[in-house]
Amino acid sequence: MLAVDVKNIKKTFISKQDTVEAVKDVSFHVKQGEIFGLLGPNGAGKSTTILMLTTLLSITEGSASILGIDVATKDKEVREKIGVALQDTGIDNLLTGHELFFTTCRLWGYSKKDSEVRTNELLELVGLTEAADRRVKTYSGGMKRRLDLGLSLVHSPEILFLDEPTTGLDPGSRRVLWDEIKRLRNNGVTVILTTQYLEEADELADRIAIIDEGLVVAEGTSDELKASIGGDVITFAFNHNDDLKNAKNILTNSVQEKNELRITVEDGASRIPGYLKDLSNQGVEVSSVSANKPTLDDVFLEVTGYRLEGSESSQQAKQKSKR
Ligand SMILES: Nc1ncnc2c1ncn2[C@@H]1O[C@H](COP(=O)(O)OP(=O)(O)OP(=O)(O)O)[C@@H](O)[C@H]1O
Ligand SMILES: [Mg+2]
Repeated sequence: MLAVDVKNIKKTFISKQDTVEAVKDVSFHVKQGEIFGLLGPNGAGKSTTILMLTTLLSITEGSASILGIDVATKDKEVREKIGVALQDTGIDNLLTGHELFFTTCRLWGYSKKDSEVRTNELLELVGLTEAADRRVKTYSGGMKRRLDLGLSLVHSPEILFLDEPTTGLDPGSRRVLWDEIKRLRNNGVTVILTTQYLEEADELADRIAIIDEGLVVAEGTSDELKASIGGDVITFAFNHNDDLKNAKNILTNSVQEKNELRITVEDGASRIPGYLKDLSNQGVEVSSVSANKPTLDDVFLEVTGYRLEGSESSQQAKQKSKR
């Protein structure tokens, strides 16, 4: 049985002012025991999708089921199976970590004694034992995200939804959370997470769906997505605008990005001399050229037409253009 099965869901927000199609058409499935990544930029519809799948928002059109249970009609049953850590949590900052876990355990129906045991177990699991008696408002960003993760685990859910679990964290704290999420998966928990970070999707997710403007534009394992581009990415850089312009006319199927042109071809390295010859015959000066295996970043560019902000290549491109 599938952990999550989403078929053509749609969310339209209607207000007096306007109508927003936050999710236009999203379909994907997640197998049990997988980490599934929903990768997309700000406003893509990630949170709206998570809110619908976790019964917190109604589905305008389409259907979704969790472990075979229909989300729209059996919301109570679904909630027992799932844990959720939302992007905007309404955590009560005045409570201590211990109090927060304890209260949540009680809300889930644990006895006082069991709540105490579970609280200590979870504090340990997410590495907050030492900070347990401090007020949550004194926690760092990374500690708060670990707290969110821990709270979503109180009732030992089979399926865990994490909306941008590491946004705003430094690389070290991010890695700690990645390890925790992997450990949960290794213990049989299915994880659906959203992210705007390519590295996070690449490192963590067994399968990825790229979502853009409310639509799933690509889906597969990281390797499948990279292979779908077909071949290698050759990047030509130019120092002069005229060279770039002329080269664009010669390399007809290239895509421009800043002062670079990119072509995707089979066996890229062996094709470089031919391209360079064509360009130099027309008097075009190339400042640098390289052939690389496609990255998830290239996949994103290919399917959306733009780069995800802050992605590694967009940083490299910036650095290169500075030189
Ligand atoms: N309650 C709402 N009413 C109207 N529009 C909404 C509502 N919630 C979200 N939207 C709009 O729907 C679109 C998708 O929003 P959503 O929060 O799902 O994006 P996201 O992918 O989670 O983005 P981010 O990475 O910034 O969290 C946005 O244009 C947003 O403004
Ligand atoms: Mg969001």
